[in-house]
Amino acid sequence: MKKARAVSLSELGSADVIKLIDIELPAPAKGEVQIRQTAIGFNFIDVYQRSGFYPLELPTGLGHEAVGVVEALGEDVSGFKVGDRVMYMNAGIGAYASARNVAADKLVPVPSNVSDEVAAAVFFKAMTAQYLVQKTYKVKAGDVVLVHAAAGGVGQILAGWAKSLGAFVVGTVGSQAKAAAAKEAGCDAVLDYSKPNWVEDFLKATGGKKANVVYDSVAKDTFLGSLDCTAPFGMVALFGAASGPAPEIQPEILNKKGCLFLTRPSVFPHNATPALLQENARAVFDAIAKGQVKVKIGATFPLEQAADAHRAAEGRKVMGAIVMIP
Ligand SMILES: NC(=O)c1ccc[n+]([C@@H]2O[C@H](COP(=O)([O-])OP(=O)(O)OC[C@H]3O[C@@H](n4cnc5c(N)ncnc54)[C@H](OP(=O)(O)O)[C@@H]3O)[C@@H](O)[C@H]2O)c1
Repeated sequence: MKKARAVSLSELGSADVIKLIDIELPAPAKGEVQIRQTAIGFNFIDVYQRSGFYPLELPTGLGHEAVGVVEALGEDVSGFKVGDRVMYMNAGIGAYASARNVAADKLVPVPSNVSDEVAAAVFFKAMTAQYLVQKTYKVKAGDVVLVHAAAGGVGQILAGWAKSLGAFVVGTVGSQAKAAAAKEAGCDAVLDYSKPNWVEDFLKATGGKKANVVYDSVAKDTFLGSLDCTAPFGMVALFGAASGPAPEIQPEILNKKGCLFLTRPSVFPHNATPALLQENARAVFDAIAKGQVKVKIGATFPLEQAADAHRAAEGRKVMGAIVMIP
């Protein structure tokens, strides 16, 4: 048994429910690897799960993404050795921990030119941006792309990636203070969607053109406006709900707005097999190497302050990814 610390929730609710406890970690089981974790990625899904919006069975750990060093191997593990630097983003809940046993087929080696903090900041978020720009809607030169919450963790990566593919990218932000970060990330134009007339501002920014694709992770406050910003036969990719669930619609509205396509995708099915995980991770590292994906760490917290990391995210105080250090 190895002594470790891990977040454990005995109830769901506000950030106050996040408690760090001492645990005894057993030796890795068959097919597993034991990792001493060095950096943990915060993702907004952690808030949905902690709050009960996506309910979890209790007691439960929290978090999907971390980076670390292999310390022990279970039986039948090949391809990894003690001392390897590895990361994961879909190995089941429980990443908020100082050490953890993880199925080896969920691990990806960390490239030598990428630091632990950067890997934890980028992996889950860039794997999300990857399927959104390469699979859900293949962004191409000349497209008009609308990215909501463009100063956020996924938003900055998505905006920069779409821009690198030759799109005209409009980003939205919730306050003027975030506009510069969204611009720096790659947006050609940035608008404040807390203003009631943000759809008009979008059309002004594009010279009247509507978007080939709208990447909407905000939902409640943006979804109906997103439909109004989408060009005929264009797509709305609703991939999150930072402001709450999207209002219900009748499918007929998609006809009225111009035969729109609506999808609600998730990063997990896109990486459901070890082969897909490795293939998509290669696409992400390729994009990092080409400069298509740039990483901005907006804030770093010790794991002991995971609750503060959640408060900062929910308070919309951070621009870029949040990383926690165990
Ligand atoms: N489906 C998938 O595969 C997938 C995977 C990863 C992430 N996501 C989604 O992508 C989004 C971004 O994730 P992230 O981890 O990078 O987080 P994040 O963007 O760093 O934080 C969420 C952002 O949403 C905006 N927001 C708007 N209304 C909000 C509200 N009422 N409360 C809090 N934030 C609000 C905020 O930006 P402003 O202050 O500028 O409005 C905030 O920065 C999330 O919705 C997440 O669920 C989906």
